Amino acid sequence: MKVLVIGSGGREHAIAWKLAQSEKVAKVYVAPGNGGTATEAKCENTPVSLGDPAAEAGLIGFVQRTGIALTVVGPEVPLAEGIVDRFRAAGLAIAGPGKQAAMLEASKVFSKSFMRKYGVRTAGSENFTDPSQALKYAQAHFGGKNAAAPDPLVIKADGLAAGKGVVIAADIAEAESCLTAFMKDGSLGAAGYSVVLEEFLEGKEVSVLAAVSVRPGSKGVIKPFVSARDHKRRFDGGQGPNTGGMGSIAPVPDFSAAAQQDFDAAILQPTLRGMEAEGMDYRGFIFFGLMVKDDRCSLLEYNVRLGDPETQAVLPLMDFDFADLCAAILDGTLAAFPLNWKSGAVCAPVAVAEGYPGSYRKGDPITLDEMTLAKTGARIFIAGAQRDEGAAGPGLRTAGGRVLAASAWGVDADQAWTRAYQALGTVSFAGMAYRKDIGRE
Ligand code: AMP
Ligand code: GLY
Repeated sequence: MKVLVIGSGGREHAIAWKLAQSEKVAKVYVAPGNGGTATEAKCENTPVSLGDPAAEAGLIGFVQRTGIALTVVGPEVPLAEGIVDRFRAAGLAIAGPGKQAAMLEASKVFSKSFMRKYGVRTAGSENFTDPSQALKYAQAHFGGKNAAAPDPLVIKADGLAAGKGVVIAADIAEAESCLTAFMKDGSLGAAGYSVVLEEFLEGKEVSVLAAVSVRPGSKGVIKPFVSARDHKRRFDGGQGPNTGGMGSIAPVPDFSAAAQQDFDAAILQPTLRGMEAEGMDYRGFIFFGLMVKDDRCSLLEYNVRLGDPETQAVLPLMDFDFADLCAAILDGTLAAFPLNWKSGAVCAPVAVAEGYPGSYRKGDPITLDEMTLAKTGARIFIAGAQRDEGAAGPGLRTAGGRVLAASAWGVDADQAWTRAYQALGTVSFAGMAYRKDIGRE
């Protein structure tokens, strides 16, 4: 069969690669794809400008004409804009939540209300649309009983903000300037006019990606994948500014059996009951962003898709056919679908362009020592790079902040780490930078 992956990042390269492993899959189209999916076996890029209704209608036409049997959506923006509803209305099979369910990621106010309503364990919070009320709450927080050493206050813009919507304010000055920027100056556009003010939680973060099959009127299923961890700060030791993710590992060694049980009881099961009670049509993937302390999990956020870069570490551990999994999600047989995992671990550090996460260099040629790379057994998933048919012959050039990930399997986390960094050592481009402590922070 032919399949389509929507998106252009490292996650989509990993999804396209995993789908291409399936004997049933003859061809993987990627819209728009990147310089990695352009040359991946069985894959072909299809230009499309997402977010443009005419372009989406064109894509639906392409899927129908080409006889594509399954579409998988990578990023959140098309999901939040309702691409799944429109594909289904056209009679097409697509993995992802409908527009209503996508609100679990697209609106923090909606998702926090959902968590409260269904008893999903999460940080205490209040929603605000009035900037002066929000400021008053922040003042009370910083002037309250722990005024000498107050906890930070977590400020979350309601809407999608491409990773820029969460600020951890250490004092009232920082809180005030953030609230003014979000709620009055419109620094995030409409996404910041409503905010959630949330209690600060301590602990270690864990990402649980999962397959979801929930349809109105029938019993739903959520099946978690092996755990993963993203490393969001730019520099080693968790220092520096937040990024889209500097690398990932799977599984997470410190996510104990007790913590997994707690996650199931306090977060997964109430989420599933809530989805059923709300009559959601959610047939796709979900991402639980957890804070874990002493084996007790709290939910920081839902993402209504697979995580990036967690996908680049989790998919190589799947010992099953990803196209079959998608079919089970869509046809309601997920409960009986066995999720078998390879033993060992994957480490996937990300190489970024100089300057990232600020403004960064672009257009630098990437060289790769394929022979040495092959010896590491690692795989390069391209995120921000394009193919260039330049005079010196075709090659890759950097085109984004996060350029690529080296995803390596090992018998254990240490071997995966060693192989991943050997693999990164085979890659070079001007200004290339990466963290050395992925999986060891
Ligand atoms: P979110 O988009 O809600 O996951 O927030 C982005 C990042 O902010 C998370 O990955 C955490 O590192 C941090 N964060 C969010 N909420 C909290 C919280 N309540 N306490 C501490 N850190 C948080
Ligand atoms: N790794 C976090 C995300 O995908 O949003």
